[in-house]
Amino acid sequence: MKNILLSILILAVSLFSLDTFAQAGKAIFDSKCVVCHTLGKGKLIGPDLKGVTQRRKADWIKKMIKDPENMLKTDETAKKLLQEYNQVPMINMGLKDSEIDAIIAYLKSEDKKK
Ligand code: HEC
Repeated sequence: MKNILLSILILAVSLFSLDTFAQAGKAIFDSKCVVCHTLGKGKLIGPDLKGVTQRRKADWIKKMIKDPENMLKTDETAKKLLQEYNQVPMINMGLKDSEIDAIIAYLKSEDKKK
């Protein structure tokens, strides 16, 4: 019984902290990414990021945010996107790993909503 209560507690705490992590990601997204991206409202300068966590691996998204210059030169998918988006390159925002992880948590949580 004690173990069950403990598991419920741990689950509740982890759900809560995941949520605040995604919230932090939303704050960064809303201040740094919305000039070029929407989430479900169509293309802007860059692609609509709704569904991006389903079409790309988290690792790929992370590299694209962390080092777009390199991705746009070396990654086939990124190169195609660059062509599709009129050679406008995604810019490097100099974000920390933790900030990028928070953004990805946010994008994932949005993709879980339908
Ligand atoms: C100056 C405009 C601009 C800003 C600011 C920007 N992006 Fe981009 N992003 C682009 C463009 C344009 C592309 C498409 C690839 C290309 O042309 O370089 C892209 C591509 C992407 C992709 C790949 C999309 C796909 O369909 O696979 C992701 C993920 C992404 N951006 C995330 C972000 C995040 C997160 C931020 C904020 C931290 C951000 N971008 C800020 C312009 C921008």
